[in-house]
Amino acid sequence: MWKLLVFLLLTFQTGSSESPCKVVISPQQSVVQFGDPFTATCNASGSDIQGMGWESPYFGTPFINGISSLPLQIDKVEVWKIDSMCYAAPSDGDQCVTNLKVTVYKTPDRVSISQSLDEIGLMREGQTYEIECSILNVAPVKYLSVIWYIGSVSVFEEHFKGSDDGPINVSPVLKMTANRSHDESEIWCTAKLNLQTEGDPPSRESVPHRLNVLYTPVCSEPANETLEIPASENVTLNCSAKGNPKPSYSWHYPPNVPNTAINGDHSIQTLSFAFPGVYTCNASNSQGTTVKYFTLVEAKGDQTTIAILLGVFLTLLVLLGVGGAFFLTSHGKFSFRNCPPRRSSVI
Ligand SMILES: *[C@@H]1O[C@H](CO)[C@@H](O)[C@H](O)[C@H]1NC(C)=O
Ligand SMILES: *[C@@H]1O[C@H](CO)[C@@H](O)[C@H](O)[C@H]1NC(C)=O
Ligand SMILES: *[C@@H]1O[C@H](CO)[C@@H](O)[C@H](O)[C@H]1NC(C)=O
Ligand SMILES: *[C@@H]1O[C@H](CO)[C@@H](O)[C@H](O)[C@H]1NC(C)=O
Ligand SMILES: *[C@@H]1O[C@H](CO)[C@@H](O)[C@H](O)[C@H]1NC(C)=O
Ligand SMILES: *[C@@H]1O[C@H](CO)[C@@H](O)[C@H](O)[C@H]1NC(C)=O
Repeated sequence: MWKLLVFLLLTFQTGSSESPCKVVISPQQSVVQFGDPFTATCNASGSDIQGMGWESPYFGTPFINGISSLPLQIDKVEVWKIDSMCYAAPSDGDQCVTNLKVTVYKTPDRVSISQSLDEIGLMREGQTYEIECSILNVAPVKYLSVIWYIGSVSVFEEHFKGSDDGPINVSPVLKMTANRSHDESEIWCTAKLNLQTEGDPPSRESVPHRLNVLYTPVCSEPANETLEIPASENVTLNCSAKGNPKPSYSWHYPPNVPNTAINGDHSIQTLSFAFPGVYTCNASNSQGTTVKYFTLVEAKGDQTTIAILLGVFLTLLVLLGVGGAFFLTSHGKFSFRNCPPRRSSVI
């Protein structure tokens, strides 16, 4: 069985190589921009070639005798599909044929975001928006991709299907859920033809739009703070938060604490007499309020000093107690009897 198969394959291959004629087009596969000139060459090989020609609805070159190389020359490509084939005829047997493989392309006339900035308007964090890119007169659509950028990061890429050879308009849509990182970023779409040849045509970009996303204030880290009250200096509470629109601040202190705002929007407060306790800052805008808690505690340094002093005092007390017990006799009088008298030695 295997031998038979191999035998058949061999026979088939030998048969084809003995074919009296073969035509090769170079370049094998090419692209041309609509309106540009185009050239390809067809070479015929084999024994006893009589002549050759190009067959095409628009660019046919009649059969010419006695040649084995024939160019196809088009001064200006103004069709969307060049249906051409090159053929050669041997003196006996069937003529051989190869189809020209060429893609006619056109970069878009215009790429733009359909909505104006006003139409997109203010976005709210967490809501989903649809943004449309408009790409006019591009061909062929099956090689088109559109890439969306927000703040120079590509966020979505779409490839298209379609059998149109001629130019069409496409309007891809990006669905985006707005978040705070999008605020003040630019959004744009880019149309690109991927013709898989060296030096693809340049991509075309829309004019960028600046996004405006409303979001609840968020305080800079840490979210809550614990601060020590320094011995002599003022305490500064920094509640500065980011938000759109710009947040405004309100504070809540333990009673009788004098304070001064050291900046215009009251995001930073300085306390000249701070008491331990919890100080609250509210950063608010139209989208909501964020609360930051500052917990003020006595400086550890002072506490340590007090603890050390207390420790020393207590130790002294204990020592006095023990020493007293040791030196007191059973009669309740001091005695140095237990201490052996020193001998005086004479040298
Ligand atoms: C085709 O033939 C021409 C003329 O004989 C020759 O210059 C050229 O190199 C050939 N091209 C190929 C791809 O064989
Ligand atoms: C915001 O959206 C982008 C995608 O557009 C995403 O990469 C990012 O992680 C999001 N940021 C937040 C804070 O959700
Ligand atoms: C800040 O402190 C408040 C009150 O103690 C608490 O409810 C909240 O979860 C804390 N926030 C963070 C981020 O630790
Ligand atoms: C503390 O704050 C008060 C009032 O804001 C200011 O006059 C004083 O110079 C500050 N002292 C220090 C040491 O920063
Ligand atoms: C307050 O915090 C913000 C954000 O961390 C910082 O940019 C700013 O310099 C701070 N201001 C002061 C007075 O420390
Ligand atoms: C801060 O915001 C909380 C919750 O939104 C509110 O209950 C509180 O009264 C506000 N405090 C101040 C001082 O504005």
